Amino acid sequence: MRPDPILPSGIRTNGIVVPRGPLMLPTGVAAQSRGVPACLLQSHVPQSRPGPGNSPGSRPPAALRSSGAGGGGRSCFVLGASGETGRVLLRELLARRAFARVTLIGRRRLSLGEAAAAAVEQVVVDFERLGEHAAAFQGHDVGFCCLGTTRAKAGADGFVRVDRDYVAQAAELAWAGGCKHFVLQSSRGANPQSRFLYLRVKGEVENLVQAVGFDHCTILRPAVLLCKRQESRPMEWIAQQFLGAVARLFPTAYSVPVEMVARAMVACVLQPGEGKVKVLENRAIHELGNAMPQQGT
Ligand SMILES: NC(=O)c1ccc[n+]([C@@H]2O[C@H](COP(=O)([O-])OP(=O)(O)OC[C@H]3O[C@@H](n4cnc5c(N)ncnc54)[C@H](OP(=O)(O)O)[C@@H]3O)[C@@H](O)[C@H]2O)c1
Repeated sequence: MRPDPILPSGIRTNGIVVPRGPLMLPTGVAAQSRGVPACLLQSHVPQSRPGPGNSPGSRPPAALRSSGAGGGGRSCFVLGASGETGRVLLRELLARRAFARVTLIGRRRLSLGEAAAAAVEQVVVDFERLGEHAAAFQGHDVGFCCLGTTRAKAGADGFVRVDRDYVAQAAELAWAGGCKHFVLQSSRGANPQSRFLYLRVKGEVENLVQAVGFDHCTILRPAVLLCKRQESRPMEWIAQQFLGAVARLFPTAYSVPVEMVARAMVACVLQPGEGKVKVLENRAIHELGNAMPQQGT
């Protein structure tokens, strides 16, 4: 097998690439997991989470255990809030007052409107040294991840780094910080065995995030996103024009508006239901998004 250019010492277990080098463990993770992060193995059994007031074996602080819509003292973070989906997700979260505290974790500070700026906290991190930013991931009940780049923009190696390694490490830090529900925006067709890099990486990151051991892990697999993308992606624009028209006949078949994805992301944390891992395919995203009353209705 050709060595992974990003993870020269990566090993493969059950189709999952387990990075050795780049992912840093937060302090307190069990000693046997050093070298290969145990939480990134499929068979991972969650250790007790490190963190303030959380001695080994104890549950996260009471504030983190509260639940229910309308804030209820709950806290969440969003990765990728500057992107097409993340931006709409942030709007949904604020409009619905779903969380008392919303933290945006990103590589740059965003200019937000006055109201939004007052309602969120922004933490700028260096994703190449994410282990040094463990504090940003501390004390959140829910983590939303809309992070991603493209091969055209970042090259194959950069794409793997962002869409798999950054996401997996963020999930690891979130779990260590007390996060109970991680919501990952993946993609239709995600498959760790795929011969297409995009779908393979999406499949790998899904496995890595599931293996972390959150109480709830929701993976959304949207088809082509319908949005007015700020950056120029000509091929995606052509697909959107065509699929936007097709969506009038088959609304859930080949595409999904980012608004629908964002609503489904919020809905799934307000009512997480039974089961640790839930995978929402495109149709299920539409159903969940539609079930959520639209703002102002
Ligand atoms: N496009 C589609 O049709 C489609 C379909 C299915 C699934 N998806 C997946 O859905 C997810 C969200 O897609 P989207 O189109 O809403 O995202 P997007 O608009 O491309 O935004 C991506 C986000 O990731 C951040 N990001 C990108 N490269 C980064 C880097 N090197 N370091 C730190 N942050 C970085 C961006 O931050 P900056 O603003 O700072 O760049 C932005 O916040 C992605 O994982 C994508 O693969 C997309």
